[in-house]
Amino acid sequence: MKRTLGVCYYPEHWPEPQWGEDAARMAALGLTWVRIGEFSWSRMEPEPGRYDWAWLDRAIEVLGSKGLKVVLGTPTATPPRWMLDRHPDMLAVDAQGRTRGFGSRRHYDFSHQGYRGECAKIVTALAERYGRNPHVAAWQTDNEYACHETTLSYSEIAKAAFQDWLAQKYQSPDALNRAWGNVFWSMEYRDFREVGLPNLTVTEANPSHVMDFRRFASEQVVSFNRLQVDILRKHSAAPIAHNFMGAITEFDHWDVGADLDIASWDSYPLGFLSDRIPADAEHKRRFVRQGDPDFQAFHHDLYRAVGRGRWWIMEQQPGPVNWAPYNPDPLPGMARLWAWEAFAHGAEAVCYFRWRQAPFAQEQMHAGLLRPDSAPAQAFGEAEQVARELASMPPTAETAAADVALVFDYESDWAWQIQPQGRSFSYFWLVFHAYKGLRRLGLNVDIVRPDVADLSAYKLVLAPGLFTLSDPLKAALAGFGGTAILGPRTNSRTRDFAIPVPLPPALPGLEAVVARVESLPPDVTVPLAQGGALVNWREKLEGPAQVVETSEDGWPVLVSAGKLHYLAGWPDETALARILQRACAAEGIECDPLPEGLRRRDTPTHRFLFNYNPVPAEWGGVSIPPAGVHWIEK
Ligand code: GAL
Repeated sequence: MKRTLGVCYYPEHWPEPQWGEDAARMAALGLTWVRIGEFSWSRMEPEPGRYDWAWLDRAIEVLGSKGLKVVLGTPTATPPRWMLDRHPDMLAVDAQGRTRGFGSRRHYDFSHQGYRGECAKIVTALAERYGRNPHVAAWQTDNEYACHETTLSYSEIAKAAFQDWLAQKYQSPDALNRAWGNVFWSMEYRDFREVGLPNLTVTEANPSHVMDFRRFASEQVVSFNRLQVDILRKHSAAPIAHNFMGAITEFDHWDVGADLDIASWDSYPLGFLSDRIPADAEHKRRFVRQGDPDFQAFHHDLYRAVGRGRWWIMEQQPGPVNWAPYNPDPLPGMARLWAWEAFAHGAEAVCYFRWRQAPFAQEQMHAGLLRPDSAPAQAFGEAEQVARELASMPPTAETAAADVALVFDYESDWAWQIQPQGRSFSYFWLVFHAYKGLRRLGLNVDIVRPDVADLSAYKLVLAPGLFTLSDPLKAALAGFGGTAILGPRTNSRTRDFAIPVPLPPALPGLEAVVARVESLPPDVTVPLAQGGALVNWREKLEGPAQVVETSEDGWPVLVSAGKLHYLAGWPDETALARILQRACAAEGIECDPLPEGLRRRDTPTHRFLFNYNPVPAEWGGVSIPPAGVHWIEK
């Protein structure tokens, strides 16, 4: 696949005479792709059963005639108002029991069979009409599943579906009672119809109950998506994508990804830094106009794996967004840097969101490549530059093989959201912290599934915080010749959400058990004998395992059996760097600490450096300007 650029476009927002000129400018800019359609249901089907394809036929024709390839979105994230008259109970219900209203988007309950039927109809109609259209070269299902916290619904419909799901899984209420430990607090059920949803309980609900509800809700997203994919495939040979999001874990993306041809994600680096990333004020200040130096790359590597090698950026921030607490203007050069970083991680396409800033409705404060008056905005020239540069670089979308694998598991994030045992424990940020540590050392990283069966391509594997260890991963670790570092909290629950006996981590050959754990407030740390400290989380280990590192108060912190290691806490930046450098040295992995805010990624032909700093960075005798990208042929 080739490296390409694209843009998101809403022909229905603009007068038709403007389409041709827009398309011509897109083509002249060097764009390949234009994504359309994903919110236009009220124009595709203005009345139930009455379709209007004429405008879309013309829009696709106009874009295609200028040589652009269309990504056509299914419009199911925005059911029109008439849908509610047909299905008044299709709205999702939040955890407080409030029905969510019409007037924005994503106002549907994944479990609603009537709504699924309507989705099947519109997707079928769309696929029949455009499945063989020569300009429609890819599909996008729905839009950003889970956006605006829309995966979990506490409706009566979800409850009935959950009860059926439990009946399938457990077969008898007794089996469910045993698995969940319902004897505790007299929570035993006599019938699956007695099982409610785990919201509005007086105090916390049973973690096993919540965990099953999270699994159920995730499977609803998977089957909702699969319904669309199956229809599209019947009518079209074009690849199918979905646009995932950043730091969103409400459903298992590995499972949705398995049904897609391409994984894509929507990258808003400044919005994420302001809104989502738990960093200190100094970090947020330094990177306010560039974004966190690792957040984008983490998702590039994650979605490359979710897409089994094929991945895109479906929406790239071009300028200020409208939805974060603060919406700064990117430093000049960042719209270029973000694109090149994606290409260095193997992206096939980077599509900017959006072509022209909309002067009306919710996102009027969101920048586009063009201003509302059609004059170029800041990112326009940067996109143009990327297009020119792409022409002079190897065209193939690929990235270099990585030495390091980092396991990422959605269930583990649910597990530790359900039972954090301390306000600052988050699985997602624990894994991200490990990723950051690897990137600061300039390492190329692959993110892998929790049921990865083959680790033989890697020299170092990290699996922090995994709720359970899957059988394939256990087998892969048993045959692994490199260094593995597991923990903290790895393998500390059964799949039913109970503490296993023998006690964790129960790793073959590693004679250590987690005797007790503690979570730490932000201003309390556990200093380590060799420097640095544990933060947020600390475990006390017992047993004769080989000790590699200890705390100043004399407890083992890192233990090993051969190359298999268990880490009994959340290491701070200093401790993590030492542990990783030791592992790299043992495995002969090239590793050199990079200057702050400078990051690196290799492709088969080039080494890329990205300066996320607002000041120049020095590397290898070169000064890289703020927001600069530097590449060297290998
Ligand atoms: C994304 C979404 C787009 C647009 C964008 C604004 O989450 O997919 O439709 O709303 O955010 O940044």
